[in-house]
Amino acid sequence: MKEAKHILCIVGTRPEGIKMAPLIQALKREPWARVTVLATAQHRALLDQVLALFGIVPDVDLDIMRPNQALPELTARLITALDEKFGELAPDVVLAQGDTTTVMTAALVAFYRRIPFGHVEAGLRTHDLDNPFPEEMNRLVAGHLARWHFVPTERSRQNLLREGIADAAIHVTGNTVIDALLEVAAADWPLDIQLDAGKRLVLVTAHRRENFGEPFRAVCCAIRQLVDRYPDIEVLYPVHPNPNVRATAHELLGDHPRIRLCPPLDYAPFVEAQKRAHLILTDSGGVQEEAPALGKPVLVLRTETERPEAVDEGVVRLVGTDEAHIVAEASRLLDSEAAYREMARGVSPYGDGMAARRIVDVLRDALCADTGGS
Ligand code: UD1
Ligand code: UDP
Repeated sequence: MKEAKHILCIVGTRPEGIKMAPLIQALKREPWARVTVLATAQHRALLDQVLALFGIVPDVDLDIMRPNQALPELTARLITALDEKFGELAPDVVLAQGDTTTVMTAALVAFYRRIPFGHVEAGLRTHDLDNPFPEEMNRLVAGHLARWHFVPTERSRQNLLREGIADAAIHVTGNTVIDALLEVAAADWPLDIQLDAGKRLVLVTAHRRENFGEPFRAVCCAIRQLVDRYPDIEVLYPVHPNPNVRATAHELLGDHPRIRLCPPLDYAPFVEAQKRAHLILTDSGGVQEEAPALGKPVLVLRTETERPEAVDEGVVRLVGTDEAHIVAEASRLLDSEAAYREMARGVSPYGDGMAARRIVDVLRDALCADTGGS
């Protein structure tokens, strides 16, 4: 038997942990693959809890995160640290997911070291470098350096074809987030927060850099207006630890008896909160994918999305960050059962829970062509 192929899986932030976990687990079951997990720890606590849930212990931990890290210094530290480790580990393949600074730098360093790079969740685009910032740039760079593009949908495949990426390098696999979600959502998890069972739960998350400042203040004011207008709703808002978000959320929402601000929830309780939610307001990418699969209407606190499939299905709506518009759109769903039912259909355009399996199959066929797959 030939020597196993050395696959280096990179994880940096919470969503990368969630979306890489099914793939890491699947690769570890393959006899032809030797898997090394490298955590940049661009996120510290948020990443650690996700990896613990999925039983993944990083082989290498770069411990990169600093409080309130700025993009240039984060990028510089990642490039230096990744380059050193790629040199030491000399993997056959580097895999990373999504559009964070970790992913962009991993693709760049793999390119400099001439190591083939596989991009998981490839092909998402808004075609606007300012929205989301800096993620649109990150995924463009990673996308153009990849040997394999694992795209979640046909739409993302088309985006890459338009950019001149070779068809043969693109594989429609679905999004691994659905693999992770289905595994976790199959069980009931305790939610250690006392919620009022008699009230409709509105779940909120927000963290996008382009929304910092006035847009995010407007979002908070809209949430407050909604709670005041509807005595039968309760808001649960796990606040992202980014200081630019935390301070404003606590200043504007911290004192309302029906707005529950809490630290980020671990992934399993957060899935449980999504299951219990009546309505979700978010600017998160992952939540836009998960909530429709759980049959929950999502109002997206952004003007553009790289995930238009669920919008086209009518189960996600873009509402931007204008206070009056958010209030109007949420009120429509809170007032009209018909409008609500129209959006709560359990449609999932992002996958069927088999994405990791498909990615593994592509890699095995590509890497083990000379060994007959073993
Ligand atoms: C990052 C990604 C974003 C992704 C998001 C997922 C970049 C530029 N941004 O945004 O694409 O959607 O993660 O959540 O790659 N912090 C903690 N503990 C943690 C995590 C973060 O305290 O476990 C705080 C730190 O002060 C840190 C700050 O949040 O400096 C910002 O973290 P960073 O990864 O730079 O940006 P995010 O806003 O989290
Ligand atoms: N999430 C979580 N706890 C929370 C909020 C979100 O586990 O308190 C999960 C959520 O289910 C989704 C992922 O984190 O899978 C999304 O991460 P985030 O919104 O930070 O990043 P994005 O998806 O926007 O890149």
